[in-house]
Amino acid sequence: MAAASKDSKGRKTSGPGTVLVLHGPNLNLLGSREPELYGSATLADIDSALGALAGELGLAIESFQSNSEGDLVTALQSARGRVAGVLVNAAAYTHTSVAIRDAVLALELPVIEVHLSNIHRREEFRHKSLLSDVVDGVVLGFGMESYLLALRGLAGILAD
Ligand code: DQA
Repeated sequence: MAAASKDSKGRKTSGPGTVLVLHGPNLNLLGSREPELYGSATLADIDSALGALAGELGLAIESFQSNSEGDLVTALQSARGRVAGVLVNAAAYTHTSVAIRDAVLALELPVIEVHLSNIHRREEFRHKSLLSDVVDGVVLGFGMESYLLALRGLAGILAD
């Protein structure tokens, strides 16, 4: 897989080796939000670890966090034909959002669902994901490592 292309100033732009990483609501608070559940890594720590791993895998990361369902749908739509694949932690919208599910279905790209926590060991309303049956893979329960495992899995799909 080719690395992402660069513009005239050497900045990375979306390209054939770019992976969109979508972070849903409240994930901007990682580090201080329920650390016993979600760990002490911040979103910036996760994005930076993903960026480093992506570099090793010949990929690049484009990260986007929003607390708004519509913005996440728009980000998924903008990924169509522009990036190689998507990692998505839709956070609470995982359990409620038909709109994000429909946007994933429209993508026609490999998509991996990610969760920091093991949603099946938590409240019953978290056991149902509206995404799991329409994505290529699901990684959950490993904290920040879930994202890195998901990126490795996605890289394997892209290399096939
Ligand atoms: C989460 C699990 C969701 O149930 C929760 O609403 C989140 C984070 C996780 O990464 O474990 O915000 O997606």
